[in-house]
Amino acid sequence: MSASEQDRVQAIYDEFAKSYDDHYASAEFQEEDLALFKILSPWIRGKVLDLGCGTGLTLTYNDISKDDYLGIDPSAGMLEKLQAKFPGFATVNSTFEKWSESDKDSKFETIIGLFGAPAYFAKESYAEVLERLSPKGHYFLMFYKPGYFPAHIYTEEDKAAAKARIDYDLINSTFETTFIFTNYLVATNIPAEFLPAR
Ligand SMILES: C[S@@+](CC[C@H](N)C(=O)[O-])C[C@H]1O[C@@H](n2cnc3c(N)ncnc32)[C@H](O)[C@@H]1O
Repeated sequence: MSASEQDRVQAIYDEFAKSYDDHYASAEFQEEDLALFKILSPWIRGKVLDLGCGTGLTLTYNDISKDDYLGIDPSAGMLEKLQAKFPGFATVNSTFEKWSESDKDSKFETIIGLFGAPAYFAKESYAEVLERLSPKGHYFLMFYKPGYFPAHIYTEEDKAAAKARIDYDLINSTFETTFIFTNYLVATNIPAEFLPAR
């Protein structure tokens, strides 16, 4: 996305970081988290790259060692919350796109982007997720599903920009399988028999 759009997204998340965990603490969202990790946690193995890691949801629900975790997020506010809860876990304060340009060699057994984070990536970087994946590794990317945006943080202008940014045809052609999970379009290579029935 353009630099000004990325600045706008960072500003939104730096502000939202202050109340993010409280906002998602309700029973309804916790049920959604539990349903997600019932599908995903068995596939979180080896070195884990958490794209748009936010305040550390992945670490809340999974037992990952410090040596095996790397979280990437452009919002310093979100990362500050993660570090307060999970001191010593490695994070990089960057967009996925910029980090990916600077680190071409690392490979990960697990690459995830949860609850909308990949919806902020420039479409040109979708395929780079696959370049960071180890052979036999698994990825699980939760884009916002067509027509859905988290209304509480978006203005109408932001929604229009997001609609122009997310390329659903490219998602379908780049990634192995897609399925809908609540408000998200998940792109993954977890075998279909381990995913909810369509
Ligand atoms: C809806 S939050 C999800 C956070 C976390 N994955 C979770 O499930 O709680 C989206 C996150 O994506 C991050 N983000 C925005 N643009 C990004 C980009 N280009 N690369 C990586 N992360 C990005 C935001 O800063 C924010 O923390």
